[in-house]
Amino acid sequence: MLSIALTKGRLEKASVSIFSKCGYGIEELQNKGRQLVFKDSKKDIQYFLVKAADCITYVEHGVADVGIVGKDTLMESNENYYEVMDLGVGKCGFIVASLPHLNPYKKIGHIKIGTKYPTVAKEYFKKKGMDIEIIKIEGSVELAPILGLCDAIVDIMETGTTLKENGLVVFDRICDISARVIVNKASFKLKRKEIMELLEDIKKVISGE
Ligand code: PRP
Repeated sequence: MLSIALTKGRLEKASVSIFSKCGYGIEELQNKGRQLVFKDSKKDIQYFLVKAADCITYVEHGVADVGIVGKDTLMESNENYYEVMDLGVGKCGFIVASLPHLNPYKKIGHIKIGTKYPTVAKEYFKKKGMDIEIIKIEGSVELAPILGLCDAIVDIMETGTTLKENGLVVFDRICDISARVIVNKASFKLKRKEIMELLEDIKKVISGE
């Protein structure tokens, strides 16, 4: 049996849609209530829904053989898994944003960056040769520069609506992000056949074959 950890929320619909197009028996996932584990009615697969960072943890510990998770969360992790496929869904970007008059590249002196992604932010500003202080925030990051907690934020932007509605502007785009398939290292050897079959099925769907 294969165990697949799916990230709930933003990527959930797109992931479920891929398995549906694969022809897998995912009725339970499509009609879920508060249930968290779902059995495939056609394949020897079980799925479970978790938060992005937990998806990586389940895969790293081998509880899930396979995970579907955003590159944003992977970039914050220790990479103790194989990243095997870009699904090309859940596309967004890492950006540096703030209020128009708070351009962090023009500020002289101490710069405070609010973010849910300290590793990505640190690495980016290090490359720019800018010495910054990270303020870790768990959500609604856009609020931080508005209330004066930081000078700018590093966050993900999908449609740009949240930034716009809060009067923030993008100063730089760090990189593109999308959903990825990750595989537990031991599972990749021990369940190679099942995993390769799964990846082939997914590949056919995303390449539109
Ligand atoms: C993310 C991100 C932005 C928003 C961007 O937050 O942190 O706030 O989505 O999306 P948009 O460009 O389409 O407006 P998320 O919805 O994941 O929730 P959070 O604020 O709790 O982190």
